[in-house]
Amino acid sequence: MKRHVVFLEVKGGNDKGADGFRPDTMPMVKSLEKMGWTAEVIFYTEAKKEEIFQTIVKTADAYISRINPGNLEDETSYFAMLRQLTKQGIIGMERPEVMMSYGAKDVLVKLRDTSLVPTDTFAYYTMSDFIANFPKQLVKGERVLKQNRGSTGEGIWRVELIDYREVDENGALFSAYVRCTEAKDNKVLEFRLGEFINFCEQYIEGENGMLVDMPFLPRIVEGEIRILMINDKPVNVVHKKPAEGDNAFSATLFSGAKYRYDTPEDWPVLISLFKEKLPMIVEILGNYDLPLIWTADFILDTDENGRDKYIIGEMNCSCVGFTSHLELSDDVAEAIIKLVTKNKNKELEGQL
Ligand SMILES: Nc1ncnc2c1ncn2[C@@H]1O[C@H](COP(=O)(O)OP(=O)(O)OP(=O)(O)O)[C@@H](O)[C@H]1O
Ligand SMILES: [Mg+2]
Repeated sequence: MKRHVVFLEVKGGNDKGADGFRPDTMPMVKSLEKMGWTAEVIFYTEAKKEEIFQTIVKTADAYISRINPGNLEDETSYFAMLRQLTKQGIIGMERPEVMMSYGAKDVLVKLRDTSLVPTDTFAYYTMSDFIANFPKQLVKGERVLKQNRGSTGEGIWRVELIDYREVDENGALFSAYVRCTEAKDNKVLEFRLGEFINFCEQYIEGENGMLVDMPFLPRIVEGEIRILMINDKPVNVVHKKPAEGDNAFSATLFSGAKYRYDTPEDWPVLISLFKEKLPMIVEILGNYDLPLIWTADFILDTDENGRDKYIIGEMNCSCVGFTSHLELSDDVAEAIIKLVTKNKNKELEGQL
């Protein structure tokens, strides 16, 4: 083992600190050094791709990708390099498969047979599926539609049918009015359902396009609860309370939600539920190692016996940070060393 780790970043973007890196990257480098390992940060560019690939293969045991895919010139080419690195025996944190498995919005559909996601949660990859199922669900109650590619609430819509007396000749509801609130800023717009469905085509077309359709959970007004995980360990909890107001439902920062930082000990029921479900989640999502740094967001619901029930709203693992809790860098470094050692040993056993 080389005991060396490469952090991949890109230059620029609003996620960087004064030193040009993500604010939580150098703390991880220093923690690794304290533990007898070495680490460096490489700024990825398409032009330098081949050189970077060679450097990592020659010098490192593992890469840690800290790039928001939205900041890349060519996402496909970057992911192809990461896959090649895995083929060369480099431990990937995370591998593209894991980013997609945990981070894509349709993770909710994969988890729908667990008690963590409502069974009437769907993913649409074609307009015809969307048109065939979404109106039917909407008649039963308010829905939330989520595009896959956005962040901070862009393309996340709360949709409520406000008038379904006008049914068109096919018996569909396309001329009925819907009230739509976008999580980006809780702005409310009214459309005819047919118009809104056409507007949503942008989310379905193109690479990784999809729309996830799940029931609207009214207890979002009590807050969304984010668990920050370092591999298999819950390390902190953020309680995000949406802004007050009629239709406001967004827990994203720029929509005016209020954030409170708690500890896992403040949320014993949720934490023990999540820990209990983790092995099942790992299995359903493809039996990969849990990501190095990742988050799971929960919203409260009420079960048929009137008891609290936690529902997963989304998970993230592509470039989750811990800037608000830099003291976690030692825990992260320990997890890196543990994961690299475990996987390198597995590789050695395979070669014997
Ligand atoms: N089923 C739901 N019921 C009620 N509110 C919801 C539901 N799903 C999402 N929301 C609200 O919409 C917000 C945005 O949704 P979500 O977190 O899935 O999207 P995002 O754009 O990826 O956000 P992020 O920037 O956190 O990754 C959530 O923070 C939550 O407040
Ligand atoms: Mg979110």
